[in-house]
Amino acid sequence: MDYTGKRAVLAGAGVMGASLALVYAKAGFSVTLYDLCEDELARGRGRLAASLQTLLAEGMLSPDEAEAILGRIDYTSDKACFQSAFLILENITENLSAKQSFWKEASALAPSGALLATDTSGLSIGEIGEAITGPERFAGQHWLNPPHLIPLCEVVKGEKTAPETMAAMVDIVTFLGKKPVVLERDIPGFITNRLQFALLREALHIVESGAASVEDVDNTVKYGLGVRYACLGPFDTADLAGLDNFDKVSTRLFGQLSAAKGPDPLLHGLVEQGSLGVKSRKGFYDYSDGKDSAAIRRRDERIIRLAKCLFS
Ligand SMILES: NC(=O)c1ccc[n+]([C@@H]2O[C@H](COP(=O)([O-])OP(=O)(O)OC[C@H]3O[C@@H](n4cnc5c(N)ncnc54)[C@H](O)[C@@H]3O)[C@@H](O)[C@H]2O)c1
Repeated sequence: MDYTGKRAVLAGAGVMGASLALVYAKAGFSVTLYDLCEDELARGRGRLAASLQTLLAEGMLSPDEAEAILGRIDYTSDKACFQSAFLILENITENLSAKQSFWKEASALAPSGALLATDTSGLSIGEIGEAITGPERFAGQHWLNPPHLIPLCEVVKGEKTAPETMAAMVDIVTFLGKKPVVLERDIPGFITNRLQFALLREALHIVESGAASVEDVDNTVKYGLGVRYACLGPFDTADLAGLDNFDKVSTRLFGQLSAAKGPDPLLHGLVEQGSLGVKSRKGFYDYSDGKDSAAIRRRDERIIRLAKCLFS
């Protein structure tokens, strides 16, 4: 379906909401970015402008396209915006009761045929949906940060999500020029975080065993596995390597891998000391003296180069 001119209300003008407003407006939706107050909206507008500037500087948009995108976005803290929504995509703070009270109001105000989606990373779609009027029209749209550069969107079925809602969400994500994957069940962590945290658990285990340094584990992913994973999934990789080989290795190796259930001592210990990563200028690495902004810049430059190569 052609969604040009349909009204998408993006609720929450933070890191994800501002970037997704750009994604929706770039594809042709009329976008309303909604937040609690003018200060948050101003911050969101600044984030959106910075992301747009990056796309312009990288030649991923022309100045005319950028202007047209900005013309399709308005900003409000007035809940009346929900009344004219074709779709509401919620990107507010990751807290169950905050999301439930948001949805209780928003779903009651939205037209009965409106589609409703949450970008929660870790909460249950079914539990958020308990607060919703018409939960059959509600599903997860889980994006990866920054969504204006990363194509993936996990479309997640809640207990009460109707099949037509799932089909519409997949169609919308495709219209946005992005790549939908479908979760038929609302499993904790969806696909992305289950894979990401399985890798992190094993990375921590390797470092804690003294077998390799943090830097060498990171380099193994950046210069080895990650290059392959930008092109192939784990099943593609196994097929190409030979399933008999992967069967033999997994039989020998699975019992050696970390099966830790609780908080990890290394990770938890850093958090207890106030080492929270880039945002506190110390984590697994040191980010003092401007190394924090350099790390963010380097990440963005590399993701942009990769996105241009693989997806533009
Ligand atoms: N940051 C990420 O990497 C990432 C990735 C995928 C999904 N998510 C999910 O996206 C959601 C938003 O994350 P974020 O990182 O953008 O958060 P953020 O803290 O940057 O932004 C949240 C915004 O929501 C606003 N807000 C809070 N309550 C509100 C309400 N009732 N109505 C309207 N606005 C409200 C806040 O004012 C703030 O501007 C979370 O559910 C998070 O789990 C985040």
